[in-house]
Amino acid sequence: MKTFSALCLVLALSVPAMLFGDEPGKYILPEPQKVEFIAEASGKATPAGTPRTLRFVEDKCCGDEGYRLEITAEDIVISHATEAGKFYAFMSLHQLRRHYGEALPALRIEDAPALRWRGLHLDVSRHFFSVGEIKKLIATMAFYKLNRLHFHLTDGPGWRIEIKKYPRLTQVGAWRVDKTDQAWNWRATEIPLGEESRKLYGGFYTQEEIRELVRFAEERHVTIVPEIEMPGHSFAAMMAYPELACSGNNVPVDGLRGKDMVCVGKAATTQFFIDVLSEVADLFPHSPIHVGGDEVWHQCWLDCPDCRARMKRENLKDSEALQTAFMRDIIAFLKKQKREIVAWDEIFEGGLSDAQVATMVWRAPELGYRAAEQGPVVLCPGEWLYFDMYQGKPGSEPLAIGGFIPLEKVYTFNPFPPNLSEKARKNILGIQANLWTEYMTTMEHVEYMLFPRAFALIDIAWHGKPRDFNRLHEQIRLQLPTLKALKCNFRPLDGKE
Ligand code: ACM
Ligand code: ZN
Repeated sequence: MKTFSALCLVLALSVPAMLFGDEPGKYILPEPQKVEFIAEASGKATPAGTPRTLRFVEDKCCGDEGYRLEITAEDIVISHATEAGKFYAFMSLHQLRRHYGEALPALRIEDAPALRWRGLHLDVSRHFFSVGEIKKLIATMAFYKLNRLHFHLTDGPGWRIEIKKYPRLTQVGAWRVDKTDQAWNWRATEIPLGEESRKLYGGFYTQEEIRELVRFAEERHVTIVPEIEMPGHSFAAMMAYPELACSGNNVPVDGLRGKDMVCVGKAATTQFFIDVLSEVADLFPHSPIHVGGDEVWHQCWLDCPDCRARMKRENLKDSEALQTAFMRDIIAFLKKQKREIVAWDEIFEGGLSDAQVATMVWRAPELGYRAAEQGPVVLCPGEWLYFDMYQGKPGSEPLAIGGFIPLEKVYTFNPFPPNLSEKARKNILGIQANLWTEYMTTMEHVEYMLFPRAFALIDIAWHGKPRDFNRLHEQIRLQLPTLKALKCNFRPLDGKE
C-alpha cells in the first residue's frame, strides 16, 4: 500500500514536459528518451542562481550507457550504472545549462542509447590531421554522445602510424610530393624514394601520440578503432617495402589506385601484417581492430608466380579464394589475441564474417541485413552516410567527391527496416558516417562536411531510427551557437544562417 501511495505521488508530480509549453528536451541533442517536469512538492519555483548539491547514485536503472538525471530546486541527482552513463548525464546537463543557465527547470530525464556503435570514420591517409585537431574532433563527438572513432590510418596515399619494426612505413610512406595546390588526383600521387628536394606533404602519429589520443578518447568514452588496410589500398606500404609487392609489379607506376594490392602469395606478407597488428593491438588495448579488406582487384595476383603457386599449393579455386585465405590467417592471429575484429563488407562475401568479425557495410544495407544473420554488423551505407558527398548544389559548395547527400537524406536512414529477424536486429551494433578526405585538406573543411549532417546521424544512433525531421531541424538550429562556441565549423542550415 505504501509503495502504491508513493507511486501515485511520483505520478502526480511528474508531468510530461509538453504540458508546460517549454520543452527542455529539445535543448539536448540527441534528445533524451524521456523528459518530464517535476512539480516541486513545496510549491517553490526553482530559484535562479541557487547552487544545488550534486549527488551520484549507482543504479542499474538505465542500462550500460544510460542515466537518470533529476533536477530539483535543492539538488541534482545523477543515477548511472557505468562511468559512460555518468558522463552522458553531464553532457545533457551541460546542454541544458547552455540554454537555462542556473535557472534550470525541475526535471527528470531518463535516457539511454538505442545503438551501441555510434561512430564516425576519419580518413587521415588522403590528408593528415594533427593530434590537436583529432582531440578536438573526439571532444566534439563525446559532447554529442558519439562513441567510436574509426581511424583510417593507412591507405595508398599515406601511412600514418609509427610501427617500430618497420620504420620506413613512416620515414617513406608518410610523405608525398606536395600537390595540395591542385585538386585531388590519386593517379598523380608520388611518394619519393630518394633524397627529395621538393616540398613534401604528410605526417604521421608517433606511438607516444597514439597512446595520448587513446587516453584522451577513453576519458571521454570514445573508443578509437584503428584500421590497417590490407591487402588493397597498400601503395604507401609497398613504396616503403617493395618486397610486399607481387613480382613484376613496378610499384611506383603499377601500385597506384586499382593495382595497389600486396602480394598474398608470400608468407612474408602475412608476417608483415601480423607484426604491424601486434604493435597496433598493443597501442589500442581496448579497441576492436579494423583490417580493411575492401576494393581488391586481383589481376596482379593472377600474373604473379608467388600468388599462383599459393593457389596451387592450397588448392584455392580462384583469386577470391586466395584473398579469403590471406584474410583468414590475419583474422586467426587477432582471434588468438582475443580481439574484436572489424572488416569492410567484402569480408562477408569471402565467407569470413562470424561472431568475432563484424561486417562494416559500406555498400547496400541489404548486404548488412544478410550478414547480421551470422554476426555483428555496423552500417555505414554510402547512399546515406558518406559525408564526403555533396550536401548542396555542387556549384555553390566546396569541391567534393560527387553524389548528393543533404541533411534530409541522412535523416531518412532507418537501420532497422521491418521484417528483420530478431537475430539480425540484435546483431546490428550500430551506425557510423564516413569521412573520406580526398577533397578535405583542413579540419575546418572536415567539420563543414560533418555538421549539420552529423546531428542526423547522432539522433538516429541514439533513438535507433529517424524521427520527426522538422523537430530535428529546430534542434539543430538551437545547437548552432554551441558549435560556434566550440569553434567547430559547420555548413549553415539550408545553405544560410
Ligand atoms: C570504401 O568506401 N571503399 C570502404
Ligand atoms: Zn603475388
